[in-house]
Amino acid sequence: MNNNLKKLFPSSNKVRMNHGSFGLSPLMIEEELNKLRNKYERDFLEYFENKLFDDYEAAKKSLAKLINCPVEGLGFLRNATHGLETALSSISRAVSRNLIKVSKIITTNHEYSSTQIMLKDYAEILKVPLIEIEIDNLLTAEITEKILKEANSSALLVMSHITSPWSEEIDIASIIKKSDASCNFIIDAAHTLGSLTIDEIVFERAIISFTLHKWAYFPRGTGALYVPQKLRKLIKPLVHSWFYNEDFEKRFFWVGTENLFPYLVAGKVLEFHQILKQEWDKGKELKAYLLATFEEFKWMKPVKANEGISNMAAWTFESGEVLASKKKFLKDGYEIWLGKAGKDSVLRISLPPYITKNEINKLKEYWLKNNPVKRGLNEK
Ligand SMILES: Cc1ncc(COP(=O)(O)O)c(C=O)c1O
Repeated sequence: MNNNLKKLFPSSNKVRMNHGSFGLSPLMIEEELNKLRNKYERDFLEYFENKLFDDYEAAKKSLAKLINCPVEGLGFLRNATHGLETALSSISRAVSRNLIKVSKIITTNHEYSSTQIMLKDYAEILKVPLIEIEIDNLLTAEITEKILKEANSSALLVMSHITSPWSEEIDIASIIKKSDASCNFIIDAAHTLGSLTIDEIVFERAIISFTLHKWAYFPRGTGALYVPQKLRKLIKPLVHSWFYNEDFEKRFFWVGTENLFPYLVAGKVLEFHQILKQEWDKGKELKAYLLATFEEFKWMKPVKANEGISNMAAWTFESGEVLASKKKFLKDGYEIWLGKAGKDSVLRISLPPYITKNEINKLKEYWLKNNPVKRGLNEK
């Protein structure tokens, strides 16, 4: 079924269902990156003088097309974490200069661990409370309702569009629509591109931080930051480089020895997404197949707010030594996300286009044979 798509990616004997963590670039993207590097690296000065700036602008336009956002609000940077830090540090500086007000930071208890560390630090710097809203076991609409209770009086809301590892969809557009106009938003969109579309209102109100290597299929080490027009004056790169004080459009261009080639394959990435659009209509079917296949594992509860996501499924369960199991999985050739997260343990299975039903069946057989989460498990 998906064999055509499988050929577009590097081959492997492993069952690779942890795309959500580390991603994988298609062969045509790897080839484009190598081609660019081979062509220009050894004669970089000439490339820099004659072509690099144009290529960079063209890459940004391709990315804007992929995201479907105004190119004027986009800057490349390394990953979602880099983008979140850029936004939070800029906002902190703007607060210290009385250019913007933040009364509290609102987040959920399902944010990525490094984001939790980051938010705690910035709440201290800004001397504002950090309010963590518990969203365990809720539907997307229930999450919206709970978050909206705090979305008032100059709150800064920082949250994922798709949580990791639970893969819950947070309905950012509805939260923005119904929140107080004094609120600002920073969205962690590490998993968004290639998974969910973004509503127009989100581009009007929210800063959005993307990882491009996961579901957007760029090479490793690529990300982007989108900033809505009303905040563009305030958001500056983390590093003072040549264009720091220029208009937003130029500000994130980083001259020097920074490696820009991974961003410059954006045109090829667009081509790849066109192929994907034509060839891959099986995502939802594959997800339904996976859920049905795993239905008999009654102790695992499917995550409720995951229904609208077709490329990842997740379950929660009570268990002890899951980390040891994860290593065993990997050794035996099965890549999945399995570990402690918040109150429970979580299994997350990614379904990139190179996965087939056969591989889902293989995983199930392995799971039955090895019972990888049995130790310490309160099986009911
Ligand atoms: C929700 C979420 N945010 C942030 C990150 C960090 O991504 P990166 O390492 O690309 O910054 C991840 C990585 O998996 C994630 O799942």
